[in-house]
Amino acid sequence: MVASGAHTEHPDYQKWVPRLEQPHGRHRKVWEWCFILNALERHGVLAPGKRALGFGVGTEAVVPLLASYGVSVTATDQSVEQAGAWATVGQHAAAIDALRRPNICPDEQFDQRVSFRSVDMREIPIDLNGFDATWSSCCFEHLGSKKAGFDFVMNSLRTLKPGAVAVHTTEYDYTSGRRPLLETGSVEAGDYCCFFRRQEIEELVNRIRSEGYRVDIDLSVGRRHAFDRHLDRPPYVGDPHIRLAVHDRAVTSVGLVIQTNP
Ligand SMILES: C[S@@+](CC[C@H](N)C(=O)[O-])C[C@H]1O[C@@H](n2cnc3c(N)ncnc32)[C@H](O)[C@@H]1O
Repeated sequence: MVASGAHTEHPDYQKWVPRLEQPHGRHRKVWEWCFILNALERHGVLAPGKRALGFGVGTEAVVPLLASYGVSVTATDQSVEQAGAWATVGQHAAAIDALRRPNICPDEQFDQRVSFRSVDMREIPIDLNGFDATWSSCCFEHLGSKKAGFDFVMNSLRTLKPGAVAVHTTEYDYTSGRRPLLETGSVEAGDYCCFFRRQEIEELVNRIRSEGYRVDIDLSVGRRHAFDRHLDRPPYVGDPHIRLAVHDRAVTSVGLVIQTNP
């Protein structure tokens, strides 16, 4: 699914916004978290005893929100030595306290249900396995190349048990035309980004299906809502920020829901 202003009006979207302690939902990052939560809810993951694994969680309120439902969460992010710019813009977690939100999940429950670990998404430790769900928001476009991003998505599926679900969101260049894949920044500086286009997402979907997983994907781009026609431009105002301009491209978010076989 591709982020659209129309989604922000749906009750299944709006219900998460205050629970995530967000002032409004007119932002593609909030769209990603709501997309992830809706997918996890649909797949029955928001229940006591379920186990979820989050990658590159930054300071996402998704972590305490899952814990508030009784889910055991293993939250991961890269090490602080590796984080570069992510550590200075409030989008990196070096320790569990970065994820604590007592209004979303009281400290006692949070401490019982959430653990934190430094994990490089390019080398997922093999002892991370048997989960009911895994997710990442706005991460796999930052791993240094298209290949590194795709390899992460495939490897993340090995952390799941049968009948489990992976939900990954990423940035999406929906500019029409044949402009090449846009890559900006560097891994060393902590600001690398690869803005996947339709052809890359389709390639990833084919790879996922060729390995026997089910994947839901709809790459239609809504154009009717006022937020779809508004491109936030640098320096970004952030409201609305469902669609934005990056260099000569129009960018938003896309989400994939992948299932392992029962
Ligand atoms: C744009 S931030 C997103 C943070 C959070 N998921 C959110 O939605 O706010 C990108 C995240 O990816 C993490 N990241 C980047 N490269 C990584 C890697 N190789 N391994 C693990 N995490 C990585 C960063 O540390 C940061 O937490």
